[in-house]
Amino acid sequence: MSQPTTELNLTLTLEEKTLLAEDVVELKFKARSTLPPWEPGSHIDLLLGPDLARQYSLCSDPQDRRYLKVAVLREPESRGGSQFVHDELKEGEQIQIRGPRNNFPLVDSPRYQFIAGGIGITPILCMIREAERAGADWHLLYGGRRRDSMAYVEELAQYGDRVRIQPQDEEGILDLDSVLGAPRDDTAVYCCGPEVLLDAVETKCSSWPAGALHVERFAPKKLGDDVVDTEFEVEFARSGITATVPAGISILDVATENGLFVLRSCSEGVCGTCETVVMEGEPEHRDSVLTDEDRKEGCFMPCVSRACSDRLVLDL
Ligand code: FES
Repeated sequence: MSQPTTELNLTLTLEEKTLLAEDVVELKFKARSTLPPWEPGSHIDLLLGPDLARQYSLCSDPQDRRYLKVAVLREPESRGGSQFVHDELKEGEQIQIRGPRNNFPLVDSPRYQFIAGGIGITPILCMIREAERAGADWHLLYGGRRRDSMAYVEELAQYGDRVRIQPQDEEGILDLDSVLGAPRDDTAVYCCGPEVLLDAVETKCSSWPAGALHVERFAPKKLGDDVVDTEFEVEFARSGITATVPAGISILDVATENGLFVLRSCSEGVCGTCETVVMEGEPEHRDSVLTDEDRKEGCFMPCVSRACSDRLVLDL
Protein backbone atom coordinates (compact mmCIF):
# COMPACT_ATOMS: atom_id res chain seq x y z
CA MET A 1 0.00 0.00 0.00
CA SER A 2 1.23 3.49 -0.77
CA GLN A 3 2.35 5.16 2.40
CA PRO A 4 2.20 8.87 3.16
CA THR A 5 5.02 10.96 1.77
CA THR A 6 5.35 12.56 5.19
CA GLU A 7 2.74 12.15 7.93
CA LEU A 8 2.17 15.35 9.86
CA ASN A 9 0.51 16.22 13.08
CA LEU A 10 -0.08 19.90 12.66
CA THR A 11 -2.12 22.74 14.01
CA LEU A 12 -3.26 24.81 11.06
CA THR A 13 -5.40 27.95 10.84
CA LEU A 14 -8.59 27.96 8.81
CA GLU A 15 -7.94 30.99 6.63
CA GLU A 16 -10.93 30.77 4.30
CA LYS A 17 -14.22 28.93 4.29
CA THR A 18 -16.01 29.31 0.95
CA LEU A 19 -19.35 27.98 -0.25
CA LEU A 20 -18.40 26.27 -3.54
CA ALA A 21 -21.69 24.67 -4.49
CA GLU A 22 -24.94 23.66 -2.84
CA ASP A 23 -23.97 22.00 0.47
CA VAL A 24 -20.24 22.01 -0.36
CA VAL A 25 -17.75 24.25 1.46
CA GLU A 26 -14.07 24.55 0.73
CA LEU A 27 -11.69 24.91 3.68
CA LYS A 28 -8.34 26.57 3.07
CA PHE A 29 -5.85 25.93 5.86
CA LYS A 30 -2.73 28.01 6.23
CA ALA A 31 0.49 26.59 7.61
CA ARG A 32 2.91 28.68 9.69
CA SER A 33 5.79 27.33 7.63
CA THR A 34 6.22 25.49 4.35
CA LEU A 35 4.35 22.19 4.31
CA PRO A 36 6.22 18.97 3.52
CA PRO A 37 5.56 17.45 0.09
CA TRP A 38 2.44 15.45 -0.65
CA GLU A 39 1.02 13.76 -3.74
CA PRO A 40 -2.29 13.83 -5.63
CA GLY A 41 -4.78 11.38 -4.13
CA SER A 42 -3.71 12.12 -0.55
CA HIS A 43 -6.17 12.79 2.24
CA ILE A 44 -5.86 14.35 5.69
CA ASP A 45 -7.67 13.70 8.94
CA LEU A 46 -9.35 16.74 10.43
CA LEU A 47 -9.42 16.24 14.20
CA LEU A 48 -12.66 18.07 14.89
CA GLY A 49 -13.02 17.10 18.53
CA PRO A 50 -12.55 14.20 20.91
CA ASP A 51 -13.43 11.04 18.93
CA LEU A 52 -14.34 13.16 15.91
CA ALA A 53 -11.72 12.59 13.20
CA ARG A 54 -12.82 12.80 9.60
CA GLN A 55 -10.90 12.13 6.39
CA TYR A 56 -11.03 14.52 3.46
CA SER A 57 -9.15 14.37 0.17
CA LEU A 58 -6.78 17.23 -0.50
CA CYS A 59 -7.78 19.33 -3.49
CA SER A 60 -5.17 22.09 -3.43
CA ASP A 61 -2.10 22.11 -5.62
CA PRO A 62 0.68 19.92 -4.16
CA GLN A 63 3.18 22.35 -5.64
CA ASP A 64 1.81 25.19 -3.49
CA ARG A 65 3.17 24.28 -0.08
CA ARG A 66 1.66 27.27 1.79
CA TYR A 67 -1.87 25.88 2.01
CA LEU A 68 -3.95 22.75 2.22
CA LYS A 69 -7.49 22.75 0.88
CA VAL A 70 -10.32 20.27 1.27
CA ALA A 71 -13.96 20.44 0.21
CA VAL A 72 -16.65 19.06 2.49
CA LEU A 73 -20.14 17.97 1.51
CA ARG A 74 -22.88 18.35 4.12
CA GLU A 75 -23.95 14.75 4.58
CA PRO A 76 -27.66 14.34 5.29
CA GLU A 77 -26.78 11.41 7.54
CA SER A 78 -23.88 13.27 9.16
CA ARG A 79 -22.44 11.57 12.23
CA GLY A 80 -21.17 14.97 13.35
CA GLY A 81 -18.22 15.69 11.06
CA SER A 82 -19.73 17.49 8.09
CA GLN A 83 -22.36 19.14 10.26
CA PHE A 84 -19.60 20.55 12.50
CA VAL A 85 -17.59 21.76 9.50
CA HIS A 86 -20.59 23.46 7.88
CA ASP A 87 -22.26 24.95 10.97
CA GLU A 88 -19.58 25.47 13.61
CA LEU A 89 -16.12 25.79 12.15
CA LYS A 90 -15.20 29.45 11.66
CA GLU A 91 -12.49 31.27 9.74
CA GLY A 92 -9.55 32.10 12.01
CA GLU A 93 -9.96 28.97 14.13
CA GLN A 94 -7.11 26.58 14.61
CA ILE A 95 -7.55 22.93 13.87
CA GLN A 96 -5.52 19.78 14.35
CA ILE A 97 -4.67 17.88 11.21
CA ARG A 98 -3.10 14.47 10.75
CA GLY A 99 -1.59 13.24 7.48
CA PRO A 100 -1.34 13.55 4.53
CA ARG A 101 -1.74 9.86 3.76
CA ASN A 102 -2.06 8.53 0.23
CA ASN A 103 -4.22 5.46 -0.37
CA PHE A 104 -5.04 6.57 -3.91
CA PRO A 105 -1.75 7.30 -5.67
CA LEU A 106 -1.61 8.40 -9.29
CA VAL A 107 0.40 5.87 -11.28
CA ASP A 108 2.41 6.94 -14.32
CA SER A 109 0.38 6.40 -17.48
CA PRO A 110 0.25 7.89 -20.98
CA ARG A 111 -3.52 8.15 -20.69
CA TYR A 112 -6.02 8.58 -17.85
CA GLN A 113 -9.77 8.27 -17.71
CA PHE A 114 -11.02 10.04 -14.59
CA ILE A 115 -14.58 9.49 -13.35
CA ALA A 116 -15.96 11.54 -10.48
CA GLY A 117 -19.33 11.55 -8.78
CA GLY A 118 -20.29 14.53 -6.58
CA ILE A 119 -17.74 15.37 -3.92
CA GLY A 120 -15.53 12.61 -5.39
CA ILE A 121 -14.16 15.32 -7.65
CA THR A 122 -11.76 16.47 -4.88
CA PRO A 123 -8.88 13.96 -5.28
CA ILE A 124 -9.46 13.86 -9.05
CA LEU A 125 -8.91 17.63 -9.27
CA CYS A 126 -5.30 17.23 -8.04
CA MET A 127 -4.75 14.32 -10.40
CA ILE A 128 -5.94 16.31 -13.40
CA ARG A 129 -3.46 19.07 -12.66
CA GLU A 130 -0.70 16.48 -12.41
CA ALA A 131 -1.75 14.70 -15.62
CA GLU A 132 -1.85 18.05 -17.40
CA ARG A 133 1.64 18.94 -16.14
CA ALA A 134 2.95 15.55 -17.26
CA GLY A 135 1.50 16.08 -20.73
CA ALA A 136 -0.65 12.95 -20.46
CA ASP A 137 -3.77 12.39 -22.53
CA TRP A 138 -6.58 12.57 -20.01
CA HIS A 139 -10.35 12.88 -19.87
CA LEU A 140 -12.81 13.43 -17.05
CA LEU A 141 -16.43 12.34 -16.79
CA TYR A 142 -17.97 14.20 -13.86
CA GLY A 143 -21.52 13.61 -12.63
CA GLY A 144 -23.65 15.13 -9.90
CA ARG A 145 -27.29 15.53 -8.95
CA ARG A 146 -27.60 19.06 -10.37
CA ARG A 147 -25.10 21.50 -11.86
CA ASP A 148 -25.32 23.84 -8.84
CA SER A 149 -24.48 20.95 -6.50
CA MET A 150 -21.23 20.19 -8.35
CA ALA A 151 -18.03 21.77 -6.99
CA TYR A 152 -15.21 23.12 -9.18
CA VAL A 153 -17.26 23.20 -12.41
CA GLU A 154 -15.91 26.69 -13.23
CA GLU A 155 -12.30 25.68 -12.62
CA LEU A 156 -12.72 22.65 -14.86
CA ALA A 157 -14.03 24.77 -17.74
CA GLN A 158 -10.43 25.76 -18.58
CA TYR A 159 -9.77 22.20 -19.79
CA GLY A 160 -12.32 22.40 -22.62
CA ASP A 161 -13.50 19.14 -24.11
CA ARG A 162 -11.24 16.99 -21.94
CA VAL A 163 -13.95 17.43 -19.32
CA ARG A 164 -17.53 16.26 -19.64
CA ILE A 165 -19.87 17.58 -16.98
CA GLN A 166 -23.04 15.52 -16.69
CA PRO A 167 -25.61 16.75 -14.14
CA GLN A 168 -28.14 14.01 -13.58
CA ASP A 169 -31.21 16.26 -13.80
CA GLU A 170 -30.09 17.43 -17.27
CA GLU A 171 -28.54 14.32 -18.80
CA GLY A 172 -29.40 11.33 -16.64
CA ILE A 173 -26.93 8.94 -15.06
CA LEU A 174 -23.28 8.93 -16.12
CA ASP A 175 -22.66 7.45 -19.53
CA LEU A 176 -19.99 4.96 -18.48
CA ASP A 177 -20.17 3.00 -21.72
CA SER A 178 -18.89 6.03 -23.61
CA VAL A 179 -15.61 5.97 -21.69
CA LEU A 180 -15.25 2.37 -20.49
CA GLY A 181 -17.03 0.45 -23.25
CA ALA A 182 -13.83 -0.77 -24.89
CA PRO A 183 -10.93 -1.94 -22.67
CA ARG A 184 -7.61 -0.22 -23.37
CA ASP A 185 -4.17 -1.22 -22.20
CA ASP A 186 -2.78 2.33 -22.30
CA THR A 187 -5.25 3.84 -19.83
CA ALA A 188 -5.38 4.11 -16.05
CA VAL A 189 -8.97 4.56 -14.82
CA TYR A 190 -9.47 6.56 -11.62
CA CYS A 191 -12.88 6.76 -9.98
CA CYS A 192 -14.08 8.44 -6.80
CA GLY A 193 -17.67 9.00 -5.77
CA PRO A 194 -20.68 7.31 -4.21
CA GLU A 195 -20.80 3.56 -3.78
CA VAL A 196 -23.32 3.03 -6.57
CA LEU A 197 -20.94 4.71 -9.04
CA LEU A 198 -17.93 2.74 -7.82
CA ASP A 199 -19.86 -0.52 -8.16
CA ALA A 200 -20.94 0.37 -11.70
CA VAL A 201 -17.40 1.33 -12.72
CA GLU A 202 -15.99 -1.86 -11.19
CA THR A 203 -18.48 -3.90 -13.20
CA LYS A 204 -17.66 -2.05 -16.44
CA CYS A 205 -13.93 -2.49 -15.83
CA SER A 206 -14.14 -6.23 -15.18
CA SER A 207 -12.93 -6.86 -18.74
CA TRP A 208 -10.15 -4.24 -18.50
CA PRO A 209 -6.53 -5.25 -17.84
CA ALA A 210 -5.80 -6.15 -14.20
CA GLY A 211 -4.72 -3.11 -12.25
CA ALA A 212 -6.21 -0.60 -14.70
CA LEU A 213 -8.89 0.56 -12.28
CA HIS A 214 -8.11 2.62 -9.17
CA VAL A 215 -10.94 3.62 -6.83
CA GLU A 216 -11.27 5.48 -3.58
CA ARG A 217 -14.16 4.89 -1.24
CA PHE A 218 -15.58 7.33 1.31
CA ALA A 219 -17.73 4.69 2.93
CA PRO A 220 -17.08 1.02 3.67
CA LYS A 221 -18.07 -1.60 1.13
CA LYS A 222 -21.16 -3.52 2.17
CA LEU A 223 -20.42 -6.98 3.53
CA GLY A 224 -22.55 -9.86 2.32
CA ASP A 225 -25.45 -11.05 4.49
CA ASP A 226 -23.63 -14.34 5.03
CA VAL A 227 -20.64 -12.69 6.74
CA VAL A 228 -20.51 -13.71 10.40
CA ASP A 229 -18.03 -13.02 13.16
CA THR A 230 -16.35 -15.88 14.94
CA GLU A 231 -14.01 -15.84 17.90
CA PHE A 232 -10.27 -16.31 17.31
CA GLU A 233 -6.95 -15.75 18.97
CA VAL A 234 -4.60 -12.91 18.08
CA GLU A 235 -0.96 -12.58 18.95
CA PHE A 236 0.50 -9.07 18.90
CA ALA A 237 4.03 -10.15 18.03
CA ARG A 238 5.96 -7.01 18.91
CA SER A 239 4.26 -6.66 22.27
CA GLY A 240 4.28 -10.36 23.11
CA ILE A 241 0.59 -10.24 24.02
CA THR A 242 -1.90 -12.94 23.06
CA ALA A 243 -5.62 -12.29 23.43
CA THR A 244 -9.01 -13.58 22.35
CA VAL A 245 -11.00 -11.57 19.82
CA PRO A 246 -14.67 -12.29 20.56
CA ALA A 247 -17.38 -12.08 17.89
CA GLY A 248 -18.55 -8.48 17.52
CA ILE A 249 -15.33 -6.91 18.86
CA SER A 250 -12.60 -5.66 16.56
CA ILE A 251 -8.95 -6.63 16.78
CA LEU A 252 -8.18 -2.95 17.23
CA ASP A 253 -10.46 -2.71 20.26
CA VAL A 254 -8.84 -5.84 21.73
CA ALA A 255 -5.41 -4.27 21.16
CA THR A 256 -6.50 -1.09 22.93
CA GLU A 257 -8.01 -3.05 25.85
CA ASN A 258 -4.63 -4.75 26.21
CA GLY A 259 -2.80 -1.44 26.49
CA LEU A 260 -1.47 -1.21 22.92
CA PHE A 261 -1.60 2.12 21.18
CA VAL A 262 -2.51 1.75 17.51
CA LEU A 263 -3.27 4.88 15.53
CA ARG A 264 -6.83 4.84 14.19
CA SER A 265 -9.12 7.24 12.46
CA CYS A 266 -12.19 5.96 10.59
CA SER A 267 -12.55 2.59 12.37
CA GLU A 268 -14.41 1.50 9.21
CA GLY A 269 -11.61 0.09 7.07
CA VAL A 270 -11.62 3.08 4.75
CA CYS A 271 -8.78 5.42 5.69
CA GLY A 272 -5.76 3.13 6.05
CA THR A 273 -4.57 4.68 9.32
CA CYS A 274 -4.50 1.47 11.39
CA GLU A 275 -2.60 -0.58 8.81
CA THR A 276 -0.43 -3.43 10.05
CA VAL A 277 0.98 -6.67 8.65
CA VAL A 278 -0.14 -10.28 9.06
CA MET A 279 2.82 -12.45 10.05
CA GLU A 280 0.98 -15.79 10.46
CA GLY A 281 -2.54 -17.10 10.01
CA GLU A 282 -5.21 -16.59 7.41
CA PRO A 283 -6.74 -13.12 7.37
CA GLU A 284 -10.31 -12.32 6.45
CA HIS A 285 -10.06 -8.90 4.84
CA ARG A 286 -13.10 -6.67 5.36
CA ASP A 287 -11.55 -3.30 4.57
CA SER A 288 -12.39 -1.06 1.61
CA VAL A 289 -8.95 0.36 0.99
CA LEU A 290 -6.34 -2.34 0.32
CA THR A 291 -5.70 -3.62 -3.19
CA ASP A 292 -5.26 -7.32 -3.97
CA GLU A 293 -1.55 -6.64 -4.27
CA ASP A 294 -1.44 -4.98 -0.82
CA ARG A 295 -3.20 -8.00 0.64
CA LYS A 296 -0.77 -10.40 -1.01
CA GLU A 297 2.01 -8.44 0.68
CA GLY A 298 0.35 -9.04 4.06
CA CYS A 299 -1.19 -5.60 4.66
CA PHE A 300 -4.16 -5.73 7.04
CA MET A 301 -6.65 -3.31 8.64
CA PRO A 302 -7.37 -4.49 12.19
CA CYS A 303 -10.23 -2.03 12.74
CA VAL A 304 -12.55 -4.22 10.64
CA SER A 305 -10.72 -7.28 9.34
CA ARG A 306 -10.71 -10.60 11.14
CA ALA A 307 -9.30 -14.13 10.82
CA CYS A 308 -10.37 -17.23 8.92
CA SER A 309 -7.89 -19.29 10.93
CA ASP A 310 -8.07 -19.95 14.68
CA ARG A 311 -5.04 -17.74 15.27
CA LEU A 312 -3.59 -14.63 13.67
CA VAL A 313 -0.17 -13.12 14.38
CA LEU A 314 0.11 -9.40 13.69
CA ASP A 315 3.08 -7.07 13.60
CA LEU A 316 1.84 -5.01 16.53
FE1 FES B 1 -9.33 3.63 9.16
FE2 FES B 1 -8.61 1.28 10.23
S1 FES B 1 -8.86 3.16 11.25
S2 FES B 1 -8.80 1.78 8.16
